[in-house]
Amino acid sequence: MSDPLAPVLERLDQDAALAVARLCDLLRIPSVSTDPAFKPDCRRAAEWLAAELSAIGFDAAVRETPGHPMVVGHSRAHPEGAPRLLYYGHYDVQPADPIELWESPPFEPVVIEAERGPRVVGRGAVDDKGQVMTWLEALRAWHAVHGSYPARITVLLEGEEESGSPSLNGFLEANREELAADVCLISDTGMWDIDTPAITTSLRGMVYSEVTLHGPSRDLHSGMYGGAVPNPINVLARLIAQLHDEQGRIQIPGFYDGIAEPSAERLAQWRELGFDESAFLAEVGLKTPAGEAGRSALERLWSRPTCDVNGIHGGYTGKGAKTVIPAHATAKISCRLVPGQDPKTVEAGIRRFFEERAPADCRVELTVHSASPAIEVPDRSPELTAALRGLDRVFDKTPVLIGCGGSIPVAGAIRRLLGFDSLLIGFGLEDDRVHSPNEKFELRCLHNGARAHAAILAELGKPST
Ligand code: BES
Ligand code: ZN
Repeated sequence: MSDPLAPVLERLDQDAALAVARLCDLLRIPSVSTDPAFKPDCRRAAEWLAAELSAIGFDAAVRETPGHPMVVGHSRAHPEGAPRLLYYGHYDVQPADPIELWESPPFEPVVIEAERGPRVVGRGAVDDKGQVMTWLEALRAWHAVHGSYPARITVLLEGEEESGSPSLNGFLEANREELAADVCLISDTGMWDIDTPAITTSLRGMVYSEVTLHGPSRDLHSGMYGGAVPNPINVLARLIAQLHDEQGRIQIPGFYDGIAEPSAERLAQWRELGFDESAFLAEVGLKTPAGEAGRSALERLWSRPTCDVNGIHGGYTGKGAKTVIPAHATAKISCRLVPGQDPKTVEAGIRRFFEERAPADCRVELTVHSASPAIEVPDRSPELTAALRGLDRVFDKTPVLIGCGGSIPVAGAIRRLLGFDSLLIGFGLEDDRVHSPNEKFELRCLHNGARAHAAILAELGKPST
C-alpha cells in the first residue's frame, strides 16, 4: 500500500492558513480557569472543542466536573484491535495580567511578522491552545484524507490545568475504563530549538501553598502600637528570608528526603545538548548564573527542587503613605519537586517551618492549592521509539531527549490512576513568553507540530509498535 502519511502532510500544507484561523477562533475565548469571572468562557471553549472533534469523526461531549468541564471524544472509525492512544491537552489559560504590558489585547490574537517568520500573539498561543491545535490539525487532516484513523483514539481536554487540576484525579478515577489507552500524547512542553524537535522525559512536580500570618486582631496605628507588638509583614519577611541558607539550600525540614540524582546516562544526554547559558540569561535581561553551587544550569532547571515566593501581600499597598501595622500578611509559595520527593512530606515540612519559627501571638494559616510529584518517563519504550521515528520523518534535525522544569500534573496522574505512560512532545520555544504578557507561538512551530503529529500517528498506528 502507498504511504498513508504523504497525502496527510500535503493536506496540512494546503490547509495551513485555515489552521491559523481556527487557532485564532479558540484564542478569542478568554478561558481563564482561576478567575470565576471567566467561568462561562471556560465552558464556551469546551463546547468549541467538542464541536471541532464532532466534525472530524469523533463522538465528543462536554463532561461535567465539580469545576470547569472536561471534553472527551472517541474516534468512530478505526481498525479493530488497533493501538489505543489518548491525546491530552488543556483549554484553560493563565490570567492575562499585567494587562498594560500587552502590545495587543490578550484575547484578540494577531499574526505578526518577526525574525523567524510569522507568529501568533495572544494568551494561550503556546500554552496550550496552539499546541492542542498541533495534534487536532493532524487528526483533522488524517480524517479528511482517509475517512478513518489508524488507531483507536480518545481525546481528553481539561479546563483546570493552570489552576492545579483540582477535578482531574476524580475524573480519571470515575472514567478509568473509558480513558484506557496504551500511551498518552501531550503537547504542552518545548522543542530544543526551532529546528530541533524534542521529547521531554522528566517534569518537575509542585507543591503550591499560601501562608498567612495573623497578628493583632485589627489593623493598628503604627505610632500607637509600633515597636511594642509583632508586625506580621516584618515577621513573614524574616521567615521568607530564612527559607534559603547562604548556599541556596532550602531549609524546610525533610525537603531533600528521598531525592534521586539523575542517571549518568541522562546527565550525559543533557551535556551533549550544549546548552548556551549566556543566551538563556540574556534573553531575560540577565548575565550572571544563579542557583545551587556545583550544578550545571540544566541540572538546576531539570533535576533540582526550588522554593519560590510568587506573591506577597498585606497592609497598605495603595498610593501615598498610610501608617499601619497590619493584622495579617500572606505569601504564595511554590516548590518545584524532583523525582524522589514526596509532596506530603514537603507540605508537612512547610507547615513545620513556619509554625516553629513564628513568634508567640503570630498564628500560621497554611493552605495548599496543589500538590503533585515529579514525573519521569522511560526513555526506551516502543512508543517513544516510534515517536522519535515520526519526528525524524518531518524534521531535518535529529530529535533529542530533554527535561523540563515546569509541571504537568496529568502525566503523573495518568501513570498512577490509569496505568500507562505519557509521551511529552512539545513545540514551544524558550522565548514564547509562557504565562507572561505577549505570549506567542511561531506559526512554523504550529505547522511543523501538526506535521510531526501526523507522522507520529502513522508510526504509533502501525500494528508492530
Ligand atoms: N505548559 C505548562 C508547563 C510548562 C511550562 C512546560 C514551561 C514547559 C515550559 C503548564 O501549563 C503549566 O504552566 N503548568 C503549571 C502547573 C501548576 C499550576 C501545577 C506550572 O508548571 O506552573
Ligand atoms: Zn500548559
